[in-house]
Amino acid sequence: MEPPATETPATVPADTGAAAADTASPAPAADSNEAAAASCAVEIESNDAIQYNVKEITVPASCSEFTITMRHVGKLPVAAMGHNVVITTAADMAGVVADGIAAGLDAGYLKPNDSRVIAHTDMIGGGQTTSVTFPVSKIKGGEYKFFCSFPGHAALMNGTISVK
Ligand code: CO
Repeated sequence: MEPPATETPATVPADTGAAAADTASPAPAADSNEAAAASCAVEIESNDAIQYNVKEITVPASCSEFTITMRHVGKLPVAAMGHNVVITTAADMAGVVADGIAAGLDAGYLKPNDSRVIAHTDMIGGGQTTSVTFPVSKIKGGEYKFFCSFPGHAALMNGTISVK
């Protein structure tokens, strides 16, 4: 392989601080060998328009654990515009959403101890940030979704998560 072009200019990703503030580029090249231990984490945003800013999350198969950090960049409170990130199989999404609505806001719109839920963050309002870390081995073959379980949100706030 030829040496990398001298193309790495000003961006210094090395923040001090041990907290995972990885600002990974939104569209990493597929099989790059650079930055091997790179991104076993992703940061996504949600807003007051019932949106995430990503539709797809790819988890590197080399990761044993993966962290999703979600920042709510809106201003509305959790009771009006709450967002979380829930991961289930695609087949389980609708049922988890329905049971979550019944569980109510105090339960974060998730049925307590729902075994269909692979991972989930807290339900947050505007200006807040939440994260969840889960074993990558929990995502196997088949289709998996991430979504917001706030009533009415999953239809707009959902995407695909896969391990590659
Ligand atoms: Co939401």
